[in-house]
Amino acid sequence: MKITSVVGARPQFIKAAIVSPQLANLGIDDRILHTGQHYDRQMSDAFFDELGIPEPTWSLDVGSGPHGAQTGTMLTKIEEVLLDDQPDAMVVYGDTNSTTAGALAAAKLHIPVVHIEAGLRSFNRAMPEEVNRIVTDHISDLLLAPTQTAVDHLATEGITGDMVELVGDVMYDLALKAANDLDAGPLLSEIGVTEGDFVLATVHRAENTDDPTRLAAVINGLAGVTETMPVVLPVHPRTKPLLEASEAASALTLIEPVGYPDMVKLERSCALVATDSGGVQKEAFFHGKPCVTLRDETEWVELVELGWNTITPPTDAAAVRDAIVSNIGTTGQDGKPYGAGDAGERIAAAISHRYT
Ligand code: UD1
Ligand code: UDP
Repeated sequence: MKITSVVGARPQFIKAAIVSPQLANLGIDDRILHTGQHYDRQMSDAFFDELGIPEPTWSLDVGSGPHGAQTGTMLTKIEEVLLDDQPDAMVVYGDTNSTTAGALAAAKLHIPVVHIEAGLRSFNRAMPEEVNRIVTDHISDLLLAPTQTAVDHLATEGITGDMVELVGDVMYDLALKAANDLDAGPLLSEIGVTEGDFVLATVHRAENTDDPTRLAAVINGLAGVTETMPVVLPVHPRTKPLLEASEAASALTLIEPVGYPDMVKLERSCALVATDSGGVQKEAFFHGKPCVTLRDETEWVELVELGWNTITPPTDAAAVRDAIVSNIGTTGQDGKPYGAGDAGERIAAAISHRYT
């Protein structure tokens, strides 16, 4: 059996690092197609090297651009690959433009689409990711959901039956592996912070970076936190020019994007995580840290219910600062909402069962 797996953005490399080896274990010929949505070494190749992800069979080098142009170019180029290669199924991950382009190209050629991380919803259609999720789920043939909440959302939209399977979250599998196996460098001393005495922040969501009021609330709020402890922020390229233009950002410890083992080290060493990332919210929980999510809502509602995650819309700097400072040292309830750490195995088994 032959599969094409589409990746393009940082979180997709991380998810493929778990799923691709499991597909290989079952003798499935999984060929990786990299759209090129992310292309800086620290946003792309570093993950292939560090996590041992197989080299892409196709690198489309699509690069950055407005949504329509970027997605359209991907669609054209992915279609060419599929017409030539004729896989038995297409695997897509998450909710980026690469996800939707891959799913749409395959669906139009009647190639079955497998969506990993199906069923997540923020119910905020102003997010490009929400549009990508809805479109992808509705043209997928096998929907592999990370949570019961996601299964329930699909059912509400009429997607039910054996095309939907609850498999758990692949990022939990990798977090467990990372805690045991991956070596980080001497990062904390290089950055100049000490174990347990810094806040780790990430900011890249368009709704924050593209809205000057929200961006100012995030930066000024984080700058306010530095009166309590340092704030370390690995800077996403989308956010880089905006932070460089901000005087308040000079209070923050800005670093280049780090590789996955170093990111896990930071997550395991910090006092609290403040983020608008989807993946980083969950990793805070996996590594036992409280999280303040700088958004109006989250798809990962389980962590809010368990008390590990506090949603803080960044409309006001003082509210951002206070939410972070007051949550340092807090914990939530125990719980296992993301499976048993065997999502990768379950995904490979579901694909093998359905398409061989
Ligand atoms: C994308 C996803 C988002 C995901 C994020 C993960 C969409 C719509 N968004 O957002 O869901 O959470 O990836 O990180 O698919 N850039 C570089 N170098 C790179 C990549 C990007 O400089 O290697 C800069 C470019 O200026 C680009 C901007 O970052 O225009 C945004 O990149 P893009 O991939 O469009 O969106 P992300 O914000 O990364
Ligand atoms: N990540 C990383 N280095 C960084 C920032 C994030 O390795 O400097 C990892 C992080 O550990 C998580 C993933 O990138 O596994 C999350 O990706 P991102 O926040 O870009 O996207 P999202 O999850 O919001 O779609």
